[in-house]
Amino acid sequence: MSLNTPENPQADQMADESMVRTLDAQARAIWPQEVQLIDRYDLPPNLRILDAGSGTGEGASRLADHFPRSRVLGVDVLEENLTRARERFAALAPRLSFEQLSVYDLQLPAQSFDLTVCRHVLHTVPHPEQAVAELVRVTRSGGYLHLLAEDYSMIHFEQHAAALDGFWQAVANKFTATSGIDMRSGRNVFGMLAAAGLDNIAVNYVIVDTVRVPRPVFAAILEAWRDGFAGPCAEVTGIALDEVVGYFENMIEQVHDPRRYVVWMVPIVSARVP
Ligand SMILES: C[S@@+](CC[C@H](N)C(=O)[O-])C[C@H]1O[C@@H](n2cnc3c(N)ncnc32)[C@H](O)[C@@H]1O
Repeated sequence: MSLNTPENPQADQMADESMVRTLDAQARAIWPQEVQLIDRYDLPPNLRILDAGSGTGEGASRLADHFPRSRVLGVDVLEENLTRARERFAALAPRLSFEQLSVYDLQLPAQSFDLTVCRHVLHTVPHPEQAVAELVRVTRSGGYLHLLAEDYSMIHFEQHAAALDGFWQAVANKFTATSGIDMRSGRNVFGMLAAAGLDNIAVNYVIVDTVRVPRPVFAAILEAWRDGFAGPCAEVTGIALDEVVGYFENMIEQVHDPRRYVVWMVPIVSARVP
């Protein structure tokens, strides 16, 4: 039976075993650059931190490690991922805890957090601006929002560039049209924060490329995407499953090939609540 709901339309993929690998490899690739951006907010050490859409706890646990005097709450709608996160990071409880709550309706008091983080979520949910409004509501005046929002026009391959650009364009267009999510949401978050009246809006990029990130780690992201998303990509675009798997195999090959350059630019949009 499908776990998909209108507020988590990719829940089947989010609960899949491949997503555990996706989130692990993404965090290993992204966190070393991301944490340097977080340090720029110059926040006090004893923070209250929210990780909205915390998944298997990759981000929440790294935040708890990085800020050892902080309290971190991870929230997610999927019980499967909450259970994984609680089991993996039991040693950090009760300073790190996880609750089943939706990012659209957090059921938490206004202005409760100094730092509100939302990683790899906004491109998977419809009406991301409503989620952002809720994140703003729970962040205190002077606190920061840190939003990692993916954009699938920002992944570039050197070989077969036209075919692979066309593949990602078809995937982004079709998912956007059929499930109401925006797989290019990365470029739209600035506007959402500006509309919400926030200060100090910054757009930075974590560069996941074959120069900065070990090739096996980058390849592990694409392997996990292939295992979790080839089927849905074929279904939504009408491209044959074999062909979709072939595209992923080609991307993985290029990442492993020391003669090739591959880059995935990951926007991180941050702002201060006035
Ligand atoms: C791609 S994962 C990212 C997990 C984590 N933030 C990380 O960086 O590893 C997206 C997560 O958002 C969760 N999610 C989707 N819709 C949600 C909603 N409406 N409220 C809370 N979480 C949601 C999914 O269940 C999934 O665990």
